[in-house]
Amino acid sequence: MHILLMGPPGAGKGTQAAELVKAFDIPHISTGDMFRAAVKEGTELGKQAKACMDAGKLVPDSVTIGIVRERLAKDDCKKGFILDGFPRTVEQADALTGILKDLGLTLTRVLNISVPAEDLIERAVGRRICKKCGATYHTKFNPPKKEGICDVCGSELFQRADDTAETMKNRLSVYEASTKPLIDYYKAAGVYTEVDGRQPIEKVTQDLIEVLKA
Ligand code: AP5
Ligand code: ZN
Repeated sequence: MHILLMGPPGAGKGTQAAELVKAFDIPHISTGDMFRAAVKEGTELGKQAKACMDAGKLVPDSVTIGIVRERLAKDDCKKGFILDGFPRTVEQADALTGILKDLGLTLTRVLNISVPAEDLIERAVGRRICKKCGATYHTKFNPPKKEGICDVCGSELFQRADDTAETMKNRLSVYEASTKPLIDYYKAAGVYTEVDGRQPIEKVTQDLIEVLKA
């Protein structure tokens, strides 16, 4: 099962990908997570990505396409993947079409988690992430049992540097200009399904799984 998970920043892609990994046992590939790992390691890629991410801008297509090409060529992607946060531009979508063709793979479905812009800033600003295991929480919508501490592993939670109201405004305008056009792109390809992301987390998961099992 080869799935694209789309949606604006803060729509719930990471949250839902974690559930789909459990349901279908396929790898979760998030370009945002890959860039954050490179920033943590202090690599050249990390330095370049950090400047773009902190400003709420996209990392250049040439860089992003290269890391995705490399990742998708790994053996574990043959049985499936959940690609989250890529593609984000028409150039990336065209490149993905070529990469999948070279690998002899086809997209099973493109799932778009739709959430109106007015909800997204609140979601991002309240997001908290576990330093150790990466579990995602929200101070209001999905709080941990003990404030600031991960339910899963007991480690401290942190806030992403780009989860400020100011940076979110840039991320949302980049989404509108560069990524939203991909909805028509994948509608035209006949693989597009939209799921209402304003519902509670568990209900969104249920809807996504229903679409994938249909
Ligand atoms: P990336 O990490 O991909 O960020 P994003 O797309 O902005 O998405 P987020 O991770 O912010 O949100 P999400 O949809 O995963 O939501 P989550 O589940 O956490 O990218 C970051 C940066 O990297 C980009 O800005 C760019 O610079 C760079 N980058 C990445 N990919 C790139 C690419 N392809 N090309 C170029 N540059 C790239 O949920 C958000 C919050 O809401 C959480 O607190 C959660 O608990 C809560 N929540 C989730 N679901 C619900 C619900 N149903 N109801 C209430 N609250 C909910
Ligand atoms: Zn944890």
